[in-house]
Amino acid sequence: MEVDPKTPKSLSLPWRTRMYLSLISVITEIVSRRDGTPNRYLLKLLQCRVPPMSEPNNGVKTYDVVMDPTSKIWFRVFVPTEEGTVEDMPVIVFFHGGGFVYLGANVTVYDVLCRWFARSVPAIVVSLDYRLAPEHRYPVQHNDCFDMLNFIDDDKNRSKWLPDSANISQCFLVGDSAGGNIAHHVAQRACEYNFNQLKVIGVVAIQPLFGGEERTDSEKELERLPLVSLKQCDWYWNALMPPGEGYNRDHPIINVSGPNAMDISKIAFPPTIVVVARFDALRDWQKRYYEWLKKSGKEAYLVEYPNMCHGFYVFPELPESEQVVSQIKQFIHKVCSHTN
Ligand SMILES: *[C@@H]1O[C@H](CO)[C@@H](O)[C@H](O)[C@H]1NC(C)=O
Ligand SMILES: *[C@@H]1O[C@H](CO)[C@@H](O)[C@H](O)[C@H]1NC(C)=O
Ligand SMILES: *[C@@H]1O[C@H](CO)[C@@H](O)[C@H](O)[C@H]1NC(C)=O
Ligand SMILES: *[C@@H]1O[C@H](CO)[C@@H](O)[C@H](O)[C@H]1NC(C)=O
Repeated sequence: MEVDPKTPKSLSLPWRTRMYLSLISVITEIVSRRDGTPNRYLLKLLQCRVPPMSEPNNGVKTYDVVMDPTSKIWFRVFVPTEEGTVEDMPVIVFFHGGGFVYLGANVTVYDVLCRWFARSVPAIVVSLDYRLAPEHRYPVQHNDCFDMLNFIDDDKNRSKWLPDSANISQCFLVGDSAGGNIAHHVAQRACEYNFNQLKVIGVVAIQPLFGGEERTDSEKELERLPLVSLKQCDWYWNALMPPGEGYNRDHPIINVSGPNAMDISKIAFPPTIVVVARFDALRDWQKRYYEWLKKSGKEAYLVEYPNMCHGFYVFPELPESEQVVSQIKQFIHKVCSHTN
């Protein structure tokens, strides 16, 4: 485990951020019942959600699209409206985090983050409200996300639901935490699929949720840090994976670069940026993921935040949250300029 000598020994954050983090951790503990089910009723009362806004807010308007009337799966579209906005924009397909169990596309923090991406890149952002575990087990989440790519690749659906400025041959799959896991696996599948027009040209994995049976140094060291304690992660994997099917943590969905990993050296896996933070228990798994991409001959970038913890980008008061948005923007611009 290499640690930059300048790296602080402990996490120091503004008191307001610390307070929010403790609050979120306590809520997560309370709603994650011991029998492996979430308390959705209590969660509903505690979680802030926002409706779509047809009036531009912070230079972006939003609307919701129901993708499948039967399952009622929907996504939110974020369209930059500021003057001078280009006629041809990349499309960011965003998958939210929450351990496959919590949160959604209309949760305020994700609405804010997607708005931010849309305005600053600028890009058309589509954020999917995929179905959650344990009510729906793996591979429902990954399938919903893949189905959305198919949905927007359909000419009729795209012209009906996305603005003309959305260029789906410049698609980026972006996800944080569990959404980062989904972004990787969906991109892998997209490489072996023939879309009409859609092309996944980049992946942004923000602190992706991967794991294994083995306890890594960062997991042992940072066990007591907010949001992704070992216990909580184990709870998430148990909620995600179908019971009674004898899966173990070497399943390629979990231990992405482990012994059962897919050989991605043979597929055209797109350029990928992996965002990690020093005080994130999942750090070692994320670094292994990055190293595996490199070893497989893929274009990959690692961005490390020496003083941050899991989920820091949802706190606009931290300068690092602005920095990460700007780094992702640079990555997107770079990849787009190569494909033009
Ligand atoms: C957010 O989405 C959920 C479904 O995922 C829905 O039940 C809820 O009404 C929505 N809330 C807002 C404010 O849009
Ligand atoms: C396009 O939209 C229609 C109506 O919502 C849906 O039935 C169809 O499956 C969609 N096409 C794809 C490829 O998802
Ligand atoms: C997961 O993969 C790593 C290699 O990245 C390996 O060392 C480890 O033993 C694997 N299995 C588990 C269950 O952690
Ligand atoms: C969309 O992106 C592709 C790939 O970069 C580019 O060749 C094409 O010209 C773009 N389409 C439009 C309408 O600008």
